[in-house]
Amino acid sequence: MKKIAVFASGNGSNLQALIDAIKLGALQAEIVLVVSDRPNAYCLTRASEAGIPTFAFRAKDYENKEHYESVIKNNLEALGVQYLILAGYMRLIGTVLLESYPEKIINIHPSLLPLFPGKDGIGQALEAGVTETGVTIHYVDEGMDTGPIIAQEIIALDENETRSSLEEKVHAVEHRLYPKVLRHIFESEEK
Ligand code: GRF
Repeated sequence: MKKIAVFASGNGSNLQALIDAIKLGALQAEIVLVVSDRPNAYCLTRASEAGIPTFAFRAKDYENKEHYESVIKNNLEALGVQYLILAGYMRLIGTVLLESYPEKIINIHPSLLPLFPGKDGIGQALEAGVTETGVTIHYVDEGMDTGPIIAQEIIALDENETRSSLEEKVHAVEHRLYPKVLRHIFESEEK
């Protein structure tokens, strides 16, 4: 059973999808910590309601990224965390965590990378007027949404697609794809 930490900054619907998949037995993992850089984010409420310990911090309370990542790292190590799962975490991961968890940090992004990296992948796709976009799950490196791609799923845009209709489609794909892909990764490691 893999011990994972989920990193999130906002609503946490992807966190919820992982919590639900674990509960249903569709993902063999234990979320031992939820980390958030926004102490008021709803993802922390979701974690508490599921009985998952949380670590919330404000970057500005620390000297720099190395400083807060070292504190996070101590928490992760104390809990025996094996994988860091980013789910709407709005900060770049720095060298402290990258070096401690090589190839063990995974992110989900709402576009077909390398298209539309960074903030608001959904808005960028709408703005560009593409006929299809999608969801990407990838390993995290030092860049912004640049690491090796693990899985992608294409989503077709309708002619009268709106932001809210596209958001709904993207989230539905994310919530299904993330637990499934993580399950494959964790299972293949057990063999
Ligand atoms: C998702 O669209 C994810 O792909 C992106 O941020 C969003 C987070 O949504 N990285 P939520 O907080 O999981 O609801």
